[in-house]
Amino acid sequence: MTKTKWTNIKDIIEGNKTGKKINIRGWIYRSRSSGNIVFMVIRDNGGILQATIKKGNLPDEDFNDAKKALIESSLELEGVIREDKRAPGGYELKVSNLNIINFAEKFPIVKDQSPEFLLDKRHLWIRSQYLNSILKVRSTVVGAIHKFFRKRGYYEFDAPVLQPNQCEGGSTLFQVKYYNNKTFLSQSWQLYAEAAIFSLEKIYNMGPTFRAERSKTSRHLSEFWMAEMEVAWADLYDITEIAKEEIKFIMKEVLKQNKSDLEYLNQDIKKLEKISKSKFPTITYTEAINILKKHMDIDWGKDLRTLEENKLMEHFETPVVVTNYPVEIMAFYKPKDPKDNKTALCFDMIAPGGYGEIVGGSQRSLDINDMTNRLKEMGESIDNYDWYFDLRRYGSVPHSGYGLGVERVVAWICGIENIKDAIPFPRTVLRFRP
Ligand code: 4AD
Ligand code: MG
Repeated sequence: MTKTKWTNIKDIIEGNKTGKKINIRGWIYRSRSSGNIVFMVIRDNGGILQATIKKGNLPDEDFNDAKKALIESSLELEGVIREDKRAPGGYELKVSNLNIINFAEKFPIVKDQSPEFLLDKRHLWIRSQYLNSILKVRSTVVGAIHKFFRKRGYYEFDAPVLQPNQCEGGSTLFQVKYYNNKTFLSQSWQLYAEAAIFSLEKIYNMGPTFRAERSKTSRHLSEFWMAEMEVAWADLYDITEIAKEEIKFIMKEVLKQNKSDLEYLNQDIKKLEKISKSKFPTITYTEAINILKKHMDIDWGKDLRTLEENKLMEHFETPVVVTNYPVEIMAFYKPKDPKDNKTALCFDMIAPGGYGEIVGGSQRSLDINDMTNRLKEMGESIDNYDWYFDLRRYGSVPHSGYGLGVERVVAWICGIENIKDAIPFPRTVLRFRP
């Protein structure tokens, strides 16, 4: 028995199969029939292709199946590829054999359904061309992050997901019952990474991260993927430059691999190309406040929320690094700037176009007393951090790191309205199904 050779639709729409007899398999994306002819649009992971099924060109039984089959039925087709300017993608398959694998029931998703309905049916909506394009971009972004760090000699290092401590403030912790004890889902890989740099020096990781974010925004998920890095001997300036390079690298990889997906999503490719080659500015928080003061009433010391970040970014076309936020609003591990005691050696990178903070990081405090005081002010039990303070007791070195929000970056590059569409099955304050 000879094994069937399956052709991917991508290969067909790239023009490599014209005039050839081929076999494809996939799902019915659209279908209409009149009399003795059925026009189907078939999809597989490479794209969509029109199939013309004419009575007489294939066994009658197969023709009747074609007429009966509803959209999302899975099937195998054999036929010859012809160029056809009117067909989507410019090619069509003249079908000589057809085999339905599964006759689909009436598909529940039709045109113009509410976002909530589509989230309820996420397990089916994930087949849409829209999510297909975003998921392909996401796959490239994830691959690019690994490639970026590995090329530069970083080791991939894994931290536990169940952790006894907070890293980014107690208010967003998810508690998990742990035998007769309690633990928390990881808010960040960072504290464990700070232990590992004494062994591996340059490390990175990408993994699920959990925050009980109670506000409903288009930027926050309860479960998201963070790509973090930590480096021994590096200071704030060093890591801001690495973060800029990383974002540009990701952008270039997406432009190389996902042009047709970006086109499907109506993204301005020229604009993205320009960003991938631009220099990203660095400003201080104080400079940002001075820019904002021209537009609104804002006092030094306030955190930048969505409103302020969006206003600030009206002045920039590329992402911007903002350093030196006020110490008071920062996590316990962010050190004071010796040159400006009111601010911390930290940064956020903010994306243009209303996508907000895509990267956040800092130099790490080496001062056990200062960190102890700040944790106490937050009502934390210091005992839980003694292991972390050991890292300052045995060969402590300057070190820095940052975390990049994978969904924020995907949402920005794809130009999508809500971060929920940047992750396959979103978890938010109101949703944990399906
Ligand atoms: O700024 P964050 O909170 O930084 C940290 O967690 C550090 N411990 C990272 C480090 O230095 N290793 O989070 C980092 C990034 C943010 O810039 C944002 O892009 C993303 O993670 N992020 C979220 N993305 C989606 N939903 C949420 N609820 C997010 N919270 C943070
Ligand atoms: Mg942050």
